[in-house]
Amino acid sequence: MEAKTPKESKTTYTDLVLPSETNPLNNLFGGELLARMDRAASISARRHSRRIVVTASVNHVAFNRSIPVGSVVTVEAIVSRAFRTSMEVFIEVYVEDRESGLRSLSNEAIYTFVAVDDLGSPVAIPPLKPETDLEISRYDAALRRKQLSLVLAGKMKANDATELKALFED
Ligand SMILES: CC(C)(COP(=O)(O)OP(=O)(O)OC[C@H]1O[C@@H](n2cnc3c(N)ncnc32)[C@H](O)[C@@H]1OP(=O)(O)O)[C@@H](O)C(=O)NCCC(=O)NCCS
Repeated sequence: MEAKTPKESKTTYTDLVLPSETNPLNNLFGGELLARMDRAASISARRHSRRIVVTASVNHVAFNRSIPVGSVVTVEAIVSRAFRTSMEVFIEVYVEDRESGLRSLSNEAIYTFVAVDDLGSPVAIPPLKPETDLEISRYDAALRRKQLSLVLAGKMKANDATELKALFED
């Protein structure tokens, strides 16, 4: 299979925060943001693999800033590494200032998707070829994050997580 670049998977999803999507402080409800991130990231994973994709894990979410009702929120998703059947997707959330139009980063997350066939069995996907320095650094660190996710899910023994262990051996 021919390698693809991260930018071929880039997905941008912009929407308003409506009152029905907020918590009692009138800020965006966390679950709604998770769903928006899941939607954008799944499109990104689908663009890379051209397959049905399912969310396998949410590896990291940082709710750094609250997002008030009425905000214009943009979710950007991009595949950071492809393994055999799974993909890591980086997500950044920006809020647009109403007057200046300037965007500021409010949240980040990392999701893992698996490409599956019509029966839900994992299928092989194209490799990813990172181009920029940021893409290369995310690509290089992705195996460590995959091992951590698998260890936490009880799908890998800590002893087999070689990349993860290397972090503590320097
Ligand atoms: C995701 C799913 C297909 C994985 O099935 P599985 O039996 O674990 O399959 P495998 O062991 O062959 O793993 C498939 C890939 O997923 C990866 N994977 C599985 N669980 C993972 C986790 N918790 N974190 C990171 N990667 C994971 C494996 O490492 C493997 O990657 P690779 O082929 O790129 O090396 C299966 O668990 C599933 O269908 N889950 C439900 C998904 C869903 O419905 N999501 C929506 C939320 S409700």
